[in-house]
Amino acid sequence: MDIHSEKILILDFGSQYTQLIARRVREAHVYCELHPHDMGIEEIRAFAPKGIIISGGPKSVYEPGAPTLDERLLELGVPVLGICYGMQVMARHFGGEVVAAGKREYGHAEVIAQGEPDQLFDGFFVEEKSPVWMSHGDHVARLPEGFTVAAATANTPVAAIQNSARGLYGVQFHPEVNHTPRGEILLDNFVRKICLCHGHWTPGRIIDDAVARIKGQVGSDRVVLGLSGGVDSSVAAALIHRAIGEQLNCVFVDTGLLRLGEGDQVMATFAENMGVKVVRVDAEERFMGALAGVTDPERKRKIIGNMFIEIFEEAAAALTDARWLAQGTIYPDVIESAGGKTGKAQNIKSHHNVGGLPEHMKLKLLEPLRELFKDEVRAIGDELGLPRQMVWRHPFPGPGLGVRILGAVTKEYADILRQADAIYIDELYQNGWYDKISQAFAVFLPVKSVGVMGDGRTYEHVVALRAVETKDFMTAAWSQLPYDLLAKIADRIINEVRGVNRVVYDISSKPPSTIEWE
Ligand code: XMP
Repeated sequence: MDIHSEKILILDFGSQYTQLIARRVREAHVYCELHPHDMGIEEIRAFAPKGIIISGGPKSVYEPGAPTLDERLLELGVPVLGICYGMQVMARHFGGEVVAAGKREYGHAEVIAQGEPDQLFDGFFVEEKSPVWMSHGDHVARLPEGFTVAAATANTPVAAIQNSARGLYGVQFHPEVNHTPRGEILLDNFVRKICLCHGHWTPGRIIDDAVARIKGQVGSDRVVLGLSGGVDSSVAAALIHRAIGEQLNCVFVDTGLLRLGEGDQVMATFAENMGVKVVRVDAEERFMGALAGVTDPERKRKIIGNMFIEIFEEAAAALTDARWLAQGTIYPDVIESAGGKTGKAQNIKSHHNVGGLPEHMKLKLLEPLRELFKDEVRAIGDELGLPRQMVWRHPFPGPGLGVRILGAVTKEYADILRQADAIYIDELYQNGWYDKISQAFAVFLPVKSVGVMGDGRTYEHVVALRAVETKDFMTAAWSQLPYDLLAKIADRIINEVRGVNRVVYDISSKPPSTIEWE
């Protein structure tokens, strides 16, 4: 079965929520792609979508220079759902009028069913009502021809429109966000009941499809992959190994900046349990040497990134007959690197991820996760039998402990931090907190403070603990861990880790603070 036979096209007008639309469609087990709003009609025809979703966006449709779409897509005979700006573009095309709302509506609202909402809204209203998330300054004031109103709020008389005969729909609210609790029902209805997709996009089928594609692409060639211990490269390795077994050669660079026992775990999982060929390169000394005395965070990132590539290249060069370089690139990476058009992702920290392709290596790229969101990568990792602890691990930055030891990095500091971090994470696991928070880690502060132990005075280092809750890592709130848990963690760290006599908890949110300290 071709799991790409049913596709939904999402046209992006620059809303901060567009990726969420795609994720909700995928959760309905239907493949979708996100494309810029100005995708041409021929390209759209060639894409052959079963349905189209037009996203929200920051502009007003009547503003000069407001982004437009090729409106011929509304005449293709394919169902279309416009969200916020998308609804307004559609309304104007069919003779409706969009005006500035008297009052900007932002936040929670309640929509009330009007007339006879069609099957798009099956299960969405409970007793004719549904809580939704609004974010708009404009609304549809005159109904477009052929449409009826399906929902209204107290401030927005036209909050949802429908033309059932033609399969055209618009909603002023955002069904894709968590603040619209029954929004996923509406999106599921759209792709299944209106666009008549069956839902072929399931982890098992994604794996079968990827395995077949990898085999087809690679043939009998040899593939090299850099394992980092992170979710993406691990799942990529497991998937490729399933497809081509022994033809896959992994290189695992132990930078000396990994978490406690991480190197051994990677080797145990892949080399010992799964029989994957992995070369482990112990490069701690080289990393420590290159970082000696360097305090600036961005310089540290560059040094670590470059050193990583250098070492990876050396190890890969030994595999002289390798033709492919495999990477754990995922769909958000693809969208963001393509996405000058909507131009959101501002580069606040230069991120060095594993595997910047050394050009002269002349390897072809194999990226089996390119179409997948993180949740999908994890689902596949589970299905492939990777350890839960590896698949559901909190994110870990490419430069590792290099940006969690403030200022100059030394092996001594890295060893102290590793132990403190392991205690912290262990306690979060033991007490059922690990899965409730998005990211937790310890930070080494290169300052000393006075303490007392027994009869003696101590003068030792400080460790800070960070825990945050976030959906997208762009904003984050600090986690309100229970005091007794924090007390236990602090006691254990101070008693068990030599060189630390004080533990503090970070209560800053992002923004204005970042999640990492450097
Ligand atoms: P910040 O600190 O910018 O972090 O709020 C947001 C998320 O990105 C991770 N992070 C990095 N990941 N290389 C990475 O691969 C980096 O240099 C880097 N810096 C931060 C951070 O752990 C958090 O999840």
